[in-house]
Amino acid sequence: MDIRVLRSDDIPHVQQTNITNLPENYFCKYYMYHAMSWPQLSYVAVDVSRPQKTPYDPPKIVGYVLAKMEEEPSDGVQHGHITSLSVMRTHRRLGLAEKLMRQSQRAMAETYGAKYVSLHVRVSNRAALALYRDTLGFKVDGTEAKYYADGEDAYGMKMNLDHLKPKPGDWDDEDFKEEETSGDADEGDAVGSLGKNKEEQELLKKVKVGRGLGVGELVEKNESAA
Ligand code: ACO
Repeated sequence: MDIRVLRSDDIPHVQQTNITNLPENYFCKYYMYHAMSWPQLSYVAVDVSRPQKTPYDPPKIVGYVLAKMEEEPSDGVQHGHITSLSVMRTHRRLGLAEKLMRQSQRAMAETYGAKYVSLHVRVSNRAALALYRDTLGFKVDGTEAKYYADGEDAYGMKMNLDHLKPKPGDWDDEDFKEEETSGDADEGDAVGSLGKNKEEQELLKKVKVGRGLGVGELVEKNESAA
């Protein structure tokens, strides 16, 4: 079994896994939005034991976690969010969901400095609740009435990620130090001059990303509800 970062060519297979396991389904562009915006946060579990008959055989994706950073956190605290997680029935209770979650949580803390991770889960989903609360250490933060399209309530859950944040000295391995301290490192000459003078600086405009481009409209559309 291989756990690796989600690639854009995995998306149709992840979408298939999602549709098989959950009633909350998303447009292809919403998966793409996750993969392009926060490429370190979403993972797939691939069954590599199946022999590949042709070079064109797709990977056998048996689980995934789709995750993102909250773009406009209402509490002003930088945090991650688990959009969706599932594992195929044939591959459950092997520890895959736990591994997918831990990989994503680590990346949230290390790459984006996330203070905590949040998610929503159906109040009736005993398997997922056991995973989040007992195995991973999430806490219930509140209940959202009729959160799901069929009227079921959701628990809002959170888990602090402070213990995963890199501490001073974590990156002090020997190879890194050598590169940093060797004075003869060839870094090459500076390339290009754009932005060096005032006129050019005025040409550089800030570009809106994410919600500014209307991507927020794609959020968590429930296709089954439609
Ligand atoms: N009953 C009780 N506890 C369970 C169960 C279960 N059916 N499944 C997992 N757990 C708990 C156990 O404590 C387990 O540890 P153990 O096996 O040592 O006892 C621990 O979680 C870790 O289990 P994993 O093997 O990592 O979990 P798995 O890979 O089987 O996936 C999942 C769990 C994702 C909930 C799976 O059952 C699934 O895909 N369900 C359908 C989709 C779903 O409900 N997804 C979550 C929706 S919420 C959201 O997406 C944010």
